[in-house]
Amino acid sequence: MINLSFSDVLAQFVKRSAYSAGQLAELSDVPKTTIISWMDGRVNRPRHHSDLLQLARALNLTSQETAVLLEAAGYAKTAEDIRQAPKESVQDSAAPFQAIPELPYFVGREEIIKDIQSQLSTADAQRICIIHGMGGIGKTTLVAHLAYRTRYLFPDGVLWGDVGHSEPMAILQAFAQAYGVDVSHYRDLASRSQVVRQLLADKRILLVLDDVWYSADLRHLLPPSTGAANVLITTRRNDLLASGAVHRIGLGLFDEDRPDSLALFQQRLGSAFVRREEEALKEIAHSLGHLPLAIAIIANHLALDPDWSVEYILKVLRQKQGTLADLAYDDQSVSLSFHVGYDSLPTEMKQFFMKLAVFQDRAFRPETAAFVTQISPDTARRFLRRLYTLSLVQVQGQPGEHNWRCYHLHPLMREFALEEAQKANVVHTARQQLARLPDARVNGRSHNSVTPLK
Ligand SMILES: Nc1ncnc2c1ncn2[C@@H]1O[C@H](COP(=O)(O)OP(=O)(O)O)[C@@H](O)[C@H]1O
Ligand SMILES: [Mg+2]
Repeated sequence: MINLSFSDVLAQFVKRSAYSAGQLAELSDVPKTTIISWMDGRVNRPRHHSDLLQLARALNLTSQETAVLLEAAGYAKTAEDIRQAPKESVQDSAAPFQAIPELPYFVGREEIIKDIQSQLSTADAQRICIIHGMGGIGKTTLVAHLAYRTRYLFPDGVLWGDVGHSEPMAILQAFAQAYGVDVSHYRDLASRSQVVRQLLADKRILLVLDDVWYSADLRHLLPPSTGAANVLITTRRNDLLASGAVHRIGLGLFDEDRPDSLALFQQRLGSAFVRREEEALKEIAHSLGHLPLAIAIIANHLALDPDWSVEYILKVLRQKQGTLADLAYDDQSVSLSFHVGYDSLPTEMKQFFMKLAVFQDRAFRPETAAFVTQISPDTARRFLRRLYTLSLVQVQGQPGEHNWRCYHLHPLMREFALEEAQKANVVHTARQQLARLPDARVNGRSHNSVTPLK
């Protein structure tokens, strides 16, 4: 870093850390205005080198890097002292930060963020938050956003395990490696997990376990419950770790009555576009059931694909057939996202799920589903509970309300079920059964944000 000014050197370290000036101020006890005056070059030689040392700690600088910063600030003698100091007395490696890149156009979720932050920031003992919701609803995006926003609270770093895609063995190795420890010679899960648990026991970390499907995996990945780790778990299952003392949050669709879907369009397309097409975009968001993944895909098409126009999308959505084929962009796909849970079902449950498409936009009770799909009410209840725990169907109403224990399908999930049904040719008899039903047996209330399929 020859000839770099103090502000240049500092700016590089700050950029690498991804901290904001406010977060650094909170972490280092150096006033925010002071940090800003250093960063923008108004002050070239800080008055107290102790402030710089505090900031260096907040930035997780190594001793070598701390010396570079001090030198650039004109404290050559102190820099030399640090270089000469015995290794143990200064921090020598930066805290790990394993979070996936943050979405540049994050919108909404303010209340949930506040809720989770209040859980995390007060933590002096282990805290676990489980965020559950259907595929594409924004769980991974939310925890990534939180990891960046709260990393300054975790001096020992942020660890990230993509449990949906990686084996626990590999995740544990990556956790250990983050602290320079190699556990690859522990070849069975139990012992590897034990070693990593010990390693994490007293660390103040944020641990993200994304896309968890089995409680058994958690047993191997969670740090000791006596530790100080904060854990964020995302899952489509709402019965995960049912017995633990955890804070559970159901993540919902973007709200029909709030501007989140439009805000996402605005982030990608600009305010002028959204003002011009507001009514059409509202209709699009409505027929996508306000699923963030679907909205993001359409926004990407509109932003980057010259063949796509608002009129074209409306035409496709109004046809209400074959929509899912169009709901893909690059590696984002609604259909693929839904497939992950669906593929894990046994055959008879798949058949049952497909037939539920005949209910279109109507809510239904287990007994009605049993009649239509020609299985026993007990089996239908069991199947629906299972589909619900996997976020493939949704429950309507709250305990005590008249429609409690009614189920419905998200409009895109229904489209997905219908496509699968057409492939498997199972929907015909279910339709006939539905026609035989007296009207009163279907819970006639429509799920509000849905237009019926043909
Ligand atoms: N709060 C949000 N702001 C902006 N876009 C979002 C938001 N939540 C989700 N998305 C969009 O939806 C996509 C799918 O979200 P993701 O977090 O992967 O869903 P999940 O993990 O629940 O399956 C994201 O890639 C992003 O484009
Ligand atoms: Mg995810």
